[in-house]
Amino acid sequence: MTGVVEAELPLWPPVNPTRGPFTPLDEAERDRYVGPVRRVRLPTGAPAWLVTRHADVRQLLRHPAFSSDFRRPGFPLLRPLPPQAAEDGRGSFIQMDGGEHSRLRRMLTAEFMIKNVRRIEPLIQRTVDEALDVLAAAGPPADLVSSFALPLPSMVICHLLGVPYADHDFFQTRSRTLLDREMPPARVQRDFEELRDYIRALVDAKRARPEGTDDLLSRLIRERVEPGELDVDELVGMALLLLIAGHETTANMIGLSVLRLTRDPGQYAILRDEPDRAAELVEELLRYLSIVRTGLLRVATEDVTIGGRLIRAGEGAVVLISLANRDADVFDEPDRFDPYRQAHQQVAFGFGVHQCIGQPLARAELRIALVALARRFPGLQVTAAPEELSTRDSSVVFGLDALPVTW
Ligand code: HEM
Repeated sequence: MTGVVEAELPLWPPVNPTRGPFTPLDEAERDRYVGPVRRVRLPTGAPAWLVTRHADVRQLLRHPAFSSDFRRPGFPLLRPLPPQAAEDGRGSFIQMDGGEHSRLRRMLTAEFMIKNVRRIEPLIQRTVDEALDVLAAAGPPADLVSSFALPLPSMVICHLLGVPYADHDFFQTRSRTLLDREMPPARVQRDFEELRDYIRALVDAKRARPEGTDDLLSRLIRERVEPGELDVDELVGMALLLLIAGHETTANMIGLSVLRLTRDPGQYAILRDEPDRAAELVEELLRYLSIVRTGLLRVATEDVTIGGRLIRAGEGAVVLISLANRDADVFDEPDRFDPYRQAHQQVAFGFGVHQCIGQPLARAELRIALVALARRFPGLQVTAAPEELSTRDSSVVFGLDALPVTW
């Protein structure tokens, strides 16, 4: 390794409540962390490699010798594991490798392909319109997060999976616990078990009524579980992963996107006046906001050189897609939000075999939601300065707790 004593390595992630919602790292932090692959110390005290450059991030994420399996020795955990975690991961393919990962992921690929998402765009539009009615009824003023940004993706993923939206408080609060690095492990374990039991009961009820509806869970039961290709625990793990990943991420993107766009009324107006540009604008929002900020976690299974540094088998790497998205070698003036930028090289959905399976859905939700919001509320204004807003700094998925708006 290096001559530096491990205790002197800079701590990742750094604690800095003054950064504001648009800055993944401030100037002083960038000097310490950004650039060639370097060593850091994690909150658990373990050392890890930090990877921040766009080329290095892509090289690492597509390399087969990096594992997503948190049970492997050397895996760079950002918090201690809950007691049962190692046994509870069945079906959660985001933390699996190789054939085990692809076997489960493949069962969902068709479902989330662009052409399928196009088919459900009318459903997304209807859901957006309903959520906007809720927002209109709540104010002005209103909290955009609780009245629009969170309900919308929650309703959509509930509809697709066949989970009752009426239970949204239950799964939203527990999902948040699971993503929060500062939650005590025992609480994470409890909330995880409650969520798993909830999905399990839902799956059992659907199995008891096989003629049920045409939602994704019912289809997976009919087409995979009953023929013996998938067991029920795996299905429960997959459904839980989709439910959590399917609402928290997109919700945080909507809140932060509205905050960013309304900072400049001209940019917000693009959505209404040039809706054909919305897809491009969403790409730039994904790049600039990069909500998965603390990094994607991997452990090397062989010695590999990334960005000129040798990472040995058993060493952990924290892969910062948020900083890759601010790499000046790839994006001109990366700290400037430019709605007309062609940000197609952005890696906010990750890269390689684990790249987000829900990205066509997330893109469609963001585009439809933002255009509809700008049309219906052209004079929308945020009533607090960005630095006054409470942010989710300890969450794996960065976002705003609330966004006060008026119109
Ligand atoms: C994976 C980001 C929306 C489901 C990922 C990964 C990222 C990501 C960075 C890669 C994780 C890794 O490599 O370790 C986002 C962002 C979203 C979003 C920024 C919203 C703007 C969604 C939605 C769904 C979803 C709507 C559900 C339908 C998943 C799943 C994986 C994943 C299942 C695991 C894929 C695998 O391991 O093969 N997401 N996501 N995501 N995402 Fe998303």
